[in-house]
Amino acid sequence: MTIKPYPISARLPVPASIPRPAYAGDMGPERYSGPDVMTPEVTAKMRLAGKVAADAMAAGAALVAPGVSTDEIDKAVHAYLIDHGAYPATLEYRGFPKSCCTSVNEVICHGIPDARPLEDGDIVKIDVTSYLDGVHGDTCATYFVGEVDEASRLLAERTQEAMMRGIRAVKPGRRLNVVGRVIEAYAGRFGYGIVRDYTGHGCHVAFHSGLVVPHYDEPAANTLLEPGLTFTIEPMLTLGDYRSHVWDDGWTVLTNDGSRCAQFEHTIVVTEDGAEILTLP
Ligand code: MF3
Ligand code: CO
Ligand code: CO
Repeated sequence: MTIKPYPISARLPVPASIPRPAYAGDMGPERYSGPDVMTPEVTAKMRLAGKVAADAMAAGAALVAPGVSTDEIDKAVHAYLIDHGAYPATLEYRGFPKSCCTSVNEVICHGIPDARPLEDGDIVKIDVTSYLDGVHGDTCATYFVGEVDEASRLLAERTQEAMMRGIRAVKPGRRLNVVGRVIEAYAGRFGYGIVRDYTGHGCHVAFHSGLVVPHYDEPAANTLLEPGLTFTIEPMLTLGDYRSHVWDDGWTVLTNDGSRCAQFEHTIVVTEDGAEILTLP
């Protein structure tokens, strides 16, 4: 079964008491030109933003079941973030209309929550970004709807493992490209496609800072890893080819060959001897 667009519900309001990022509702954000290395004070705030994002994602994931729409998941994520004082960073980000991304089956990423009821056997990626106290937490996981086939289950488990291998490879003194190198080496064992058009990114005071984190071996990504550097690792692995296209809605990214895609994401900070995950529940 191929995914088709369904109706999108009305824009959800955010109370005026919740501080919103400068880019919300704008065509922006402006290009960020500051550092990607954050102070311990900023990473302490990111730990809080990250926890809220992870908990909001879990609140949405708790609803995942056959018959439940991705719009209902979005409403739960939205309510959780707002109840905890956070702004849903995707809402009105470059015009994105919802408080999380929900990407089903062959949708790689940036799926817009809509009225489509989840079906037994689907996989759904829920990607939540919080904005709290001036900083972001960005996290995504892949969930199963009812009983999924073994190929999908293995794809999701191995995508999570690929992300964790990328995180564990992060050490000060190494180069950023170590992340893509270990992910490509692992994903290649199974013949999975590795999405190239979408990458991890610097993530802190800026949602997408401009720092690019490839999930494939890219020698040119030679930024030195140093304590305080904060970015996401968010591999998207496919059962078939990695090539993608975007729907007319300007957002929904799908595999060209219709093969399924799994994704996991954490926001991390480089520490004195490795990396700390900031988006833990
Ligand atoms: N959370 C996504 C990421 O990991 C970005 C979503 S931007 C949106 O980078 F506009 F599509 F929501
Ligand atoms: Co991200
Ligand atoms: Co994300």
